[in-house]
Amino acid sequence: MKAADLIAISDLDRDDIIEIFSATRDLKEKLRAGIPTPVLAGKTLGMIFHKPSTRTRVSFEVGIYQLGGCGLYLSAADLQLGRGETILDTARTLSRYLDGIMIRTYSHADVVELARHASIPVINGLTDLSHPCQVLGDVYTILEHAGIDPAEPRLGGMRIVFIGDGNNVANSWVEAAARLDFSLTLCPPSGYEPDGGIWETSRAAGARIAIERDPARAVAGADIIYTDVWASMGREGEREERLRVFAPYQVNAALLARAKPGVKVMHCLPAHRGEEATDEVLDGPSSIIFDQAENRLHVQKGIMALLMGHPS
Ligand code: CP
Ligand code: NVA
Repeated sequence: MKAADLIAISDLDRDDIIEIFSATRDLKEKLRAGIPTPVLAGKTLGMIFHKPSTRTRVSFEVGIYQLGGCGLYLSAADLQLGRGETILDTARTLSRYLDGIMIRTYSHADVVELARHASIPVINGLTDLSHPCQVLGDVYTILEHAGIDPAEPRLGGMRIVFIGDGNNVANSWVEAAARLDFSLTLCPPSGYEPDGGIWETSRAAGARIAIERDPARAVAGADIIYTDVWASMGREGEREERLRVFAPYQVNAALLARAKPGVKVMHCLPAHRGEEATDEVLDGPSSIIFDQAENRLHVQKGIMALLMGHPS
């Protein structure tokens, strides 16, 4: 893989994505067959968390273990970083011990800076701006469900509709649309659009992206309806306002009825059930939310194997 870090999907070109998906398939098949894959034996991944996590933490830790390596959970509050040590000093120090760093934090610029000063690969496990591992896992899940070869991810006929907040996950979808050929419609309330810079860069790179304000019109002809929480981590103070603004954007049975038969519903989780999506939909036959959650493990194993598998 050409990229040395995974900070954003825009760091990757189509061939990098194909390489990740091919490694993912290989590792997933071997796991299912009980064939060990100790490609990172003796290597250690440090996992820095400034925000809570269930899926990212567990899937990275289990993933590095399954690759023969070791994962180190580093709560930001317990690191000197949490009491003012610089990112530069942290990056240079950790690079002497570790073989890779996964970081979940608020500021995307901090992750960029960490990667600039670290001599080892840095993987973005979610920032306020993006969540690349999530969307790579999600695209892999879509390919599996559509029966499309992950090594030839032709998604030209696929229409993906993201309903709700133009948040970190939405931004990574917009970036993915610039690398793969699916069409993406975002359906956010006014004032909650995805990042303007990412939107313009992706459009200039050929992404087939559009905004549609009306959820019923947006889901017409959709193959995938995707949603996420209305108040992301760090935005909890806006919860009351957001509950009001986003109420018409709930993914429920009535909205699903406006989509075509066979439409799949996706959510990165954690869900606020009864807000952005109903139980009926999340637990219904269209939902593939736990396949998404599982594929975080397999895709991140592919990413780690490719980024950390060479001497650093
Ligand atoms: N989807 C996701 O990243 O979940 P966690 O916040 O549980 O890691
Ligand atoms: N947009 C959500 C995603 C959680 C995985 C958040 O940032 O809280």
